[in-house]
Amino acid sequence: MAKLLTIEMAKQSVEPRQASFDVAPVLDDLTETDAEIIERMRSRFQILDDMTRAVKGGHVRAMIVSGPPGVGKSFGVEQVLSKHDVFAGVAQDSSLKKYEIVKGAMSPIGLYKKLYQYADRKSIVVFDDCDSVLLDNDCLNMFKAALDSGSKRVINWNKESRYLRDEGVPQSFEFKGGCIFITNIKFENVRSKTLRGHLEALESRCHYLDLTIDTEREKMLRIKQIVNDGMLNSYEFADFERDAIVDFIDVNRKKMRELSLRMVLKVADLKKSMPHNWQQVAEITCMRSKR
Ligand SMILES: Nc1ncnc2c1ncn2[C@@H]1O[C@H](COP(=O)(O)OP(=O)(O)OP(=O)(O)O)[C@@H](O)[C@H]1O
Ligand SMILES: [Mg+2]
Repeated sequence: MAKLLTIEMAKQSVEPRQASFDVAPVLDDLTETDAEIIERMRSRFQILDDMTRAVKGGHVRAMIVSGPPGVGKSFGVEQVLSKHDVFAGVAQDSSLKKYEIVKGAMSPIGLYKKLYQYADRKSIVVFDDCDSVLLDNDCLNMFKAALDSGSKRVINWNKESRYLRDEGVPQSFEFKGGCIFITNIKFENVRSKTLRGHLEALESRCHYLDLTIDTEREKMLRIKQIVNDGMLNSYEFADFERDAIVDFIDVNRKKMRELSLRMVLKVADLKKSMPHNWQQVAEITCMRSKR
């Protein structure tokens, strides 16, 4: 029987609102060549850019991006959104959208206020690794209203709240903005029926983009692709030094604490600061301990 894979949300121990997700493992498709996998990933990341632009342009009201840690989800979205920021700064173009990236846990009332602040047609809220809001009934109901496909999307706060009154937030408002959800959860593989029901309600109102980087092989190919694209250029390594970093991760791929672009940067930092013993240090700090 396939083994259950549990993704424990990072803050679970300190954040009671967070939960764990049981998801089915994804197996390698041995019929797909490396070149095909790289092409598939490139195309998905291009779609990530295009969809982020579409939300920014107000043509798409919501998108969910799913992929494992450290593969470039936040980087992709932020790069597209911040480009417009720089442009707005230079061109003083007030027609461009404003956005905020929200990370970590959030209470329903905090979410209500956030959506109010970004209710404008030109605004976007990015929920980056904010999975607790996907599990909370109140939050989910707010998203259902905020992202519904009707022409008018009204959100209500049906309880008396001094906090909202003090903050000048009304008990009902129309949300015209866009939302982007960035998450490590692969929706269709979630096993809990209750949780699946929750996620399906959201998915039905959003475009869902799975970056399809699930297996060790796919993660390693993504690393090679982005390093080849110049990810380590700022380190000014010689080509053989850069290759040594990628080879080190590849050879030890089963032992690395995480197989990600973030890990490449960690190993590159070590190689830069400790050119003679970076491997020994990386074995201790970047690999799972033997005992
Ligand atoms: N295309 C890229 N070129 C250069 N660096 C990149 C690229 N994509 C990602 N990175 C770098 O890799 C690291 C991890 O990327 P990012 O934070 O976007 O991952 P993530 O998928 O959002 O991970 P998590 O789920 O843990 O939040 C970051 O330091 C980022 O700057
Ligand atoms: Mg991220």
